[in-house]
Amino acid sequence: MPTVKEILETMDYGPAPESASEVMAWLKDRGDFGHFIDGGFTKPGDGFATENPATGEVLAKVTQGSPEDVEAAVKAARKAAPKWAGLSGHERAKYLYAIARHLQKRARFLAVLETLDNGKPIRESRDIDIPLAIRHFYHHAGWAELVAEEFPNHAPHGVCGQIIPWNFPLLMLAWKVAPALAAGNTVVLKPAEYTPLTALAFAEICAEIGLPKGVVNIVTGDGATGAALVEAEVDKIAFTGSTEVGRIIRRATAGTAKALTLELGGKSPFIVFPDADLDAAVEGVVDAIWFNQGQVCCAGSRILVSEAVAQEFTARLTARLHKLRVGDPLDKCTDMGAIVHPTQLARIRDLVSQGEAAGATLVQPETQLPVKGSFFAPGLLTGAEPANPASVEEIFGPVATLTTFRTPSEAVQLANTTRYGLSASIWSENVTLAMDVAAQVKAGVVWINCTNQFDAGAGFGGMRESGFGREGGREGMLAYLKPPEPKAKPEAKTPDFAAQPSPDTPSAATIDRTPKLYIGGKQARPDSGQSYTIAVKGRELGLAPLGSRKDIRNAVEAAHKAGGWGKQTGHNRAQVLYYIAENLAARAEEFAARLKEAGHDPKEAEATVQRAFYYAAWADKLDGAVKSTQSAKITVAMNEPWGVMGIACPDAAPLLGFASLVLPAIAMGNRVIAVPAQSMPLMATDLYQVFETSDLPGGVVNIVTGPRDELAKTLAQHDDVAAMWYCGGPEGRAMVEAESAGNLKATWVMENRDWAQAQGRAFLTRATQIKTIWVPYGE
Ligand code: NAI
Repeated sequence: MPTVKEILETMDYGPAPESASEVMAWLKDRGDFGHFIDGGFTKPGDGFATENPATGEVLAKVTQGSPEDVEAAVKAARKAAPKWAGLSGHERAKYLYAIARHLQKRARFLAVLETLDNGKPIRESRDIDIPLAIRHFYHHAGWAELVAEEFPNHAPHGVCGQIIPWNFPLLMLAWKVAPALAAGNTVVLKPAEYTPLTALAFAEICAEIGLPKGVVNIVTGDGATGAALVEAEVDKIAFTGSTEVGRIIRRATAGTAKALTLELGGKSPFIVFPDADLDAAVEGVVDAIWFNQGQVCCAGSRILVSEAVAQEFTARLTARLHKLRVGDPLDKCTDMGAIVHPTQLARIRDLVSQGEAAGATLVQPETQLPVKGSFFAPGLLTGAEPANPASVEEIFGPVATLTTFRTPSEAVQLANTTRYGLSASIWSENVTLAMDVAAQVKAGVVWINCTNQFDAGAGFGGMRESGFGREGGREGMLAYLKPPEPKAKPEAKTPDFAAQPSPDTPSAATIDRTPKLYIGGKQARPDSGQSYTIAVKGRELGLAPLGSRKDIRNAVEAAHKAGGWGKQTGHNRAQVLYYIAENLAARAEEFAARLKEAGHDPKEAEATVQRAFYYAAWADKLDGAVKSTQSAKITVAMNEPWGVMGIACPDAAPLLGFASLVLPAIAMGNRVIAVPAQSMPLMATDLYQVFETSDLPGGVVNIVTGPRDELAKTLAQHDDVAAMWYCGGPEGRAMVEAESAGNLKATWVMENRDWAQAQGRAFLTRATQIKTIWVPYGE
């Protein structure tokens, strides 16, 4: 025991361990764990040990969930679903509230259990993970109370399969379970194999509060159990984890009509401008990358600092880095605990070595790491070029890269040089600059002069390969509810049409009379030089260009060049849409006659005019929100367009179907590559004149006619297309979902419907994604 004098000399922290005795007694008492199915624990089966990563000691043995276990859990959840959904919101709210209360009562226990199982410092589990999990249940008790009023005519999905990672075990459980239950779903949740224990403690709480049997089921196991859950008869899958597994799940659920939300990896920029409060930014880095040992999907893992302050900033950051205390996670003075598992430790070491081999320099304190357990000292990789593997891959450990930039536009460019788009942190005392950059970075969450802020009321989720869907707040509730869907209508009868492309090489004399593709605001001949015949009941109505992959690629390029459309005011876009409506109205009779000639309902023409007026009205009205989150922080939810969208339109309503999908997309600021009805594309190709005379900028709407599903496939596979809508048969729907897995674009696949009724807010929310921006205030 050091004397007071000695302590004052060294100013070292004395040990301040949190006691684990209560948790160890609980683990001893429980013994091996089975699954929690239908309100009770099953007999423990073959499984695996979960260890304390700080010591390597075995904490407990859990059961490896088999497909049969998963099936039993899904069956229990299915049985419980109607009654749970049938309860009043108030009744469900009481259960959620009781869960929150019980979590609160056992907060210390849960914090210690989490720290033991995961290796994170007790300060973080005690002050961040558990309080946020509790807040989540309180917040969603509120949504349960209000769901009928706030989401009229919406229905729960039914049974939700939920798969979570190991970095925030109880918190991720709360993010998944709370909104699902509030909306009236029942759940089967699979915790990560490294960290199943707080989920099992949560199961006990569900039993304790008398949650009806089968409403929450927990099945433990590894990726194979997760895969079985994805395959099981669930109505929705919610997944948080690696992008690689997210892609597997996207493919596995393609064509199954299971709803899907994916919260995946990231490589988030942390941008420091010359006028930033450098000391605050240094503390920001501590919270961005050394929080939770860097095992955070939204970690600020790429530090981009202005050349003007790079030297000073790096010096201060390095000094701070040397002061971080790595050690016993249960010690209240520990800044950084253990890495979750030796496998993860090996992965971190490997990626850091790759980074060094590619030219970066590792700055790391010479910390004495504990001899037992999985520890990695915090680090900084300086001089990492954008192509360095350490700058590209998600390290998921306590190491950030540091590079410099010169101008704000270069900062934005570097920030967006990644396939991910989860979060970004921007440091500048200049609010104009910070907001400008916030608008330009591709990220679902942006923190200005702060980092890693979370709240149950704020949406969280990514863009690009960081996945789709939001958790938290109103947008998070929507992910667990089905909007009122129009009744499906059978697809149009195609035999009357020349549905199969009939390649044709017209002579030079006829080709000029053939309608053309419409790309970048210009009429374009198809790359194939071929056309196909459009015929109704054997009568030829004309030729349509036979578009191909090359034409789609050209159209995507043209759409990207038209980026200014998304930056225009809603008012300006509305003016263009009104103009389109007027010009359509002027030609409505002509369109009606042509529809009639083609065997379609001539009333489509008038309805299309109305639709254009309708979306002109909406163009400046899909407001975002200011969220009620933490004090002294403005949290803004902004609706942003996807950017470039692919739309494959229905055969059934060649004019109205096209307009019903394309108009809401462009009203929200997207640029579109539309593939019109294969059997009757001429209605759409005729629209180019309307677009041209309505001041629609070139490249905002691009029209490529031809074999619809082939063209849709090219669009779904295209890495520069951010979202894809497809209306058509089951095979096409499955194809689009599976092919979209490459860049994990958001998809909306739908059956044919009554297009006369197909308009509304649901089209607009699907044409946008929410960006959440956090701005603290106060000196
Ligand atoms: P993972 O994505 O394999 O695991 C996440 C969850 O998915 C676990 O519950 C796991 O059992 C389950 N899972 C695995 N394979 C599955 C499958 N085929 N079908 C259904 N569920 C499946 O992540 P892992 O292997 O634990 O970590 C590897 C890397 O992934 C990390 O180094 C990190 O880079 C990244 N990661 C990112 C996370 C994030 O929140 N963004 C979370 C966890 C890992």
